[in-house]
Amino acid sequence: VNTIGVLTSGGDASGMNAAIRAVVRKAIYNGKKVKGIYRGYSGLLNEEIRDLTARDVSDTISRGGTILGTARCSEFRTEEGQKLGAEICRKHGIEGLVVIGGDGSFAGAQKLAGLGINTIGVPGTIDLDIACTEYTIGFDTAINTAMEAIDKVRDTSTSHERCSIIEVMGRQAGYIALYCGIANGAEDILVPEKYDFDEQKLINNILKNRKRGKKHHIIINAEGIGHSTSMARRIEAATGVETRATILGHMQRGGSPTCKDRVYASMMGAYAVDLLCAGKTNRVVGYRHGDFTDFDIDEALAMQKELPEYMWEVAYALSV
Ligand code: F6P
Repeated sequence: VNTIGVLTSGGDASGMNAAIRAVVRKAIYNGKKVKGIYRGYSGLLNEEIRDLTARDVSDTISRGGTILGTARCSEFRTEEGQKLGAEICRKHGIEGLVVIGGDGSFAGAQKLAGLGINTIGVPGTIDLDIACTEYTIGFDTAINTAMEAIDKVRDTSTSHERCSIIEVMGRQAGYIALYCGIANGAEDILVPEKYDFDEQKLINNILKNRKRGKKHHIIINAEGIGHSTSMARRIEAATGVETRATILGHMQRGGSPTCKDRVYASMMGAYAVDLLCAGKTNRVVGYRHGDFTDFDIDEALAMQKELPEYMWEVAYALSV
């Protein structure tokens, strides 16, 4: 390949800029040209495509969001959309493409690869819900942001001797909730993978902890369960303990990336370029057992991921 395109797609995540920067600079280092595609697949279909130089990505590694912009594009789920996307790549001389995003974005990448555009996926999502990899760009920043926010809620919760339900993001996955549950010393962690919707258990736990002299009760609730505000009302009515809900929301997606997100995103962006330069296509970059690696997209999309059982067990053992 002589020209490499790069786009970000789906929800943004801190560290995406580090990955874009790495794609641009590693491609140039390898003697290739780079084109930035703006606003994800929707920008591809609208030909929002510009040459990128090493200078275009200066001062971006420490910035949250994505300088290329992002979008969720339903048109790209159709065969016509995908064919048009491949044609536009060819028209602009884009022979290799790096797609930074989640599973939905990889499905698009898989189609483009099938249509002859060499395509590599780089996992970018705060949710950590991509089965082939133990690391996704933005997760580390998101959990650190959420952890700091939850510490703050905990202060006021203790002062007022309240129960606090804090809802974190994660779509249908409970990784953010589990990590924060451990990092913030939560009394209860509710994750979609495990929750049995038995609110009575929560109520009993709150009452038991009150008797044991605990001054607050922190419940981390994953958004895949949701309903934090109504849950707070029901819990307050059943326990007599003042209960408040805090939904952290999109603050978890932004902010300057952590060192880990900057470094791993840089490695993954560079790795994707090296795959393209080696003539590879239809691959996803991953991180497993301490190393950067890559998988066939079809296999990656078919993989399943489970919440780490031992981590879950430890989280509960430590919540007493
Ligand atoms: O996938 C990232 C994520 O932030 C999820 O945690 C959340 O469910 C979703 O995106 C929110 O999407 P939107 O930005 O469209 O509100």
